[in-house]
Amino acid sequence: MNSQLLFTPAPSAQTELLAVFAVDNSTSKEKDAKPEIALLTSDDAVKKAASYVLSSGEFKADASETLLIHAPEGLTAARLLVVGLGKAAKADAHAIRKAAGTVIRFAKPRGIRSLAILAPEGNFDPGQSARAIAEGAILADFDSDTYRTDRKDRSIESVSLVASASVDKSAVEAGVREGVIIAEAQNFARTLINEPGNRMTPTILGQRAAEMAAEYGLKCEVHSTEKLRELKMGAFLAVAQGSDEPPALIVIQYEPESAKPDTPIIGLVGKGITFDTGGISIKPADNMEKMKYDMAGGAAMIGAMRAIAQLKPAVKVIAIVCAAENMPSGKAVKPGDIVFAGSGKSIEVLNTDAEGRMVLADGLHYARELGANRLIDAATLTGAVAIALGQINAGVFANDEDAYQHFTKALQASGEKFWRLPVEDEYREQIRSSIADIQNTGLTRYGGAINAAMFLKEFVGDTPWLHLDIAGLAWQDAEKPWLAKGPTGVAVRSIIEWVRTYS
Ligand code: BES
Ligand code: ZN
Ligand code: ZN
Repeated sequence: MNSQLLFTPAPSAQTELLAVFAVDNSTSKEKDAKPEIALLTSDDAVKKAASYVLSSGEFKADASETLLIHAPEGLTAARLLVVGLGKAAKADAHAIRKAAGTVIRFAKPRGIRSLAILAPEGNFDPGQSARAIAEGAILADFDSDTYRTDRKDRSIESVSLVASASVDKSAVEAGVREGVIIAEAQNFARTLINEPGNRMTPTILGQRAAEMAAEYGLKCEVHSTEKLRELKMGAFLAVAQGSDEPPALIVIQYEPESAKPDTPIIGLVGKGITFDTGGISIKPADNMEKMKYDMAGGAAMIGAMRAIAQLKPAVKVIAIVCAAENMPSGKAVKPGDIVFAGSGKSIEVLNTDAEGRMVLADGLHYARELGANRLIDAATLTGAVAIALGQINAGVFANDEDAYQHFTKALQASGEKFWRLPVEDEYREQIRSSIADIQNTGLTRYGGAINAAMFLKEFVGDTPWLHLDIAGLAWQDAEKPWLAKGPTGVAVRSIIEWVRTYS
């Protein structure tokens, strides 16, 4: 998708489709209250072109609601599309991101290949809205049907952002640039996640990461079994040993000269299970195919590094992705087996399907060894997190208030939804083993997402750490008006923003 900026009056924008946002200014809480529709433009020609249809009352400006006007009078555009942002009080940059996405997904199936979006006027920061529009448009252009041989590429060729000549052009340009970088990074992660297990082995994930790193000037090393043995990563190795596919320990480093000696060193650690059968504690057949997305946390870290390389925050970042395939076989780790993690801790493997925490244990420890003094991990770690929070919020766990405060700031910028869950020491007895230091599942089924987080906590020591359990949100089974079904790339934007808060 090409993006361009047009600082021209809206009526002269020559395009297949011109989109304008609308809000409902009514503050009445009553269900059937008449909406007070306002278009977010000061352009009289646009308002006039839409006024007749809007006066019919059929359009309520609900979030993602659309209204199409063909051959709008007085405009050069072939069509005018009005897109709702919902109630005016809730119409923020995040509503704009979704609405811009809605424009794209409205256009795609209708064969419209180039379009223009009017930057909203009113109480909107021009830079922030420009960024939200760029992000929403690029994220919405992604579709996951890559392997259909009759696939018609309906990608949008070009999107123009039409802004009034009086706005701060450099702020708009900077907003678009950021939005493009961040959304392309998220789509890059989605592309990796979308690949099936036979086309995304740990080795291939390592290659894709190395190619990305070479393209954007990042240092990248991809290690395998031998190095894991050298580092005594017994937990990671235990997961990998059941598969014929060798594991990959992917290490990507961003080292800006601008980072001051006392700025933190950030460690990003991702779960990269390219397929999770459950191992000997094998999963049921139903839905097992979904477990190709069990590397979504790892992909999020690779995607985040892609954006970090371009946004160039003044902070050093080390990303570690622990990639392996969790398979049953004659060589596989068995329930009851005892292994030693890289940190020296002994682990009783009660369930081989709790493999994510095993690989992350060694990844988190290694990140500290490499000098990281702020940690964040992302993983499709537990089904239990989706039982607890549904598919609206992902889980976030933190052992440090300051790191968590940085994360809440990051969420304001990213617009992603995470809900905090506890990692208090009272929960630790759940993972106490009678034969080893810890066991890899809880004594009971209760609080499964917390038990997994408690396990990880054993490997971060006193380093400020955040754990993102994205199992419930990494994959979307149904399309949304602004986003295709399939891999969502959740956490990529928040991780990027979290890193930037330390710059
Ligand atoms: N990869 C799964 C978690 C998962 C479930 C991700 C659903 C996405 C959707 C993880 O490795 C796993 O199997 N966890 C077990 C842990 C249990 C054995 C303690 C689970 O959640 O059931
Ligand atoms: Zn598992
Ligand atoms: Zn898993």
